[in-house]
Amino acid sequence: MTVLPIILAPDPILKTKAVPVQTVDTKISQLMKDMLETMYLAPGIGLAATQVGVLKRVVVIDISKKDQLNEPICMANPEIIWSSEEKVTREEGCLSLPEQYGEIMRPDRIKLRYIDENNEEVVREASGLLATCIQHELDHLQGILFIDYLSSLKRNIILRRLKKLKKINVKTEMNKSR
Ligand code: NI
Repeated sequence: MTVLPIILAPDPILKTKAVPVQTVDTKISQLMKDMLETMYLAPGIGLAATQVGVLKRVVVIDISKKDQLNEPICMANPEIIWSSEEKVTREEGCLSLPEQYGEIMRPDRIKLRYIDENNEEVVREASGLLATCIQHELDHLQGILFIDYLSSLKRNIILRRLKKLKKINVKTEMNKSR
């Protein structure tokens, strides 16, 4: 398994739409495994292929707690086929926007269809944190970040912070290589 580099915002890749996969073959299931390893190490509870620079409709999620067994969910071509009228607001973060958070309102329950790591179609419902996480990751596949739901004022504050963070990281990398 390989840990993949996570793309940080702002970056045009994160604004690009992903394309469906043909079939979950060994290449795609390997990508799912690598994405899970990357996500666990970060650590995070969800990761979209877009965030590792692969513009394919692939997402991995695991919302299990630290002291619980891992419960990875791997999805290709996920599609939300129903969402509840009832909405809920939750604080969201994102591995591509380190240390940034925002209160986002989304449907509380969803029904979705996807292809799993064994190339089998799955239809399931999700609610609570899992529903929020799935919707957040599916947004990535459309080139949408959680900050896109915030006011432009809040969004710009976060983007400015991230640009600063990137500059600091580049400098540290340069010092390391000296
Ligand atoms: Ni994210």
